[in-house]
Amino acid sequence: MPELTIALTKGSLLAPSLELLRRANIRFPELERGSRKLIFESEDGKYRAILTRATDNPTYVEYGAADLGISGKDVIIEEGKQVFELVDLGIGKCKMVLAFPEERIRQIDEEGFSSLVIATKYPRIAREFFRKKNVQVDIIKLYGSVELAPLVGLSDGIVDIVSTGRTLRENGLKVYEDILDISARLIGNVVSRRTKYKILRDFEERIREVVNGA
Ligand code: PRP
Repeated sequence: MPELTIALTKGSLLAPSLELLRRANIRFPELERGSRKLIFESEDGKYRAILTRATDNPTYVEYGAADLGISGKDVIIEEGKQVFELVDLGIGKCKMVLAFPEERIRQIDEEGFSSLVIATKYPRIAREFFRKKNVQVDIIKLYGSVELAPLVGLSDGIVDIVSTGRTLRENGLKVYEDILDISARLIGNVVSRRTKYKILRDFEERIREVVNGA
């Protein structure tokens, strides 16, 4: 019976997460082979991996359905769940930015802005950013293809993630300001930290060695 459950994030974070675990000698052979199952046991029988959607990852950890999780810093902040952060894993690196269509940036450079309509998948992060800047903002929550919003008049600009920069570029948008550097973090359940202290520390150390040795 596995002693520790770790919630992994489906999508682009999954391959680098599995690579990191593999280098720590924690293998999930069936998952590595690309099964559609959602629960897997490690080769040594000590660990269980579950597969979650990105935005749900901290929820599984907060409620203790998973002892540990691998989650992007963007999701950790946006979801605001009660979890603790153990290790910056240095994978899934990207940036949260404020971006506008190019011609709008020229106008803003000349006239500035006092109020804006912003589309984003991250309303909490966006609202906090503009609150600190004292800018009046209407936030429109979207679930994807955020770059589309200012191109069809839904918003003035966007707060979104930039990885390669290709999506912004190919849609004629430009970064106006960087908001946050993002990478994936190992997060933990607050109760497990006490009740499973030893095995949790052991897991954390194995991961930390790989990250620091990289
Ligand atoms: C993310 C993000 C950007 C894009 C950035 O979207 O919201 O749209 O990736 O990547 P790039 O800088 O490498 O082009 P995702 O792929 O998660 O799809 P979504 O728009 O459906 O959320």
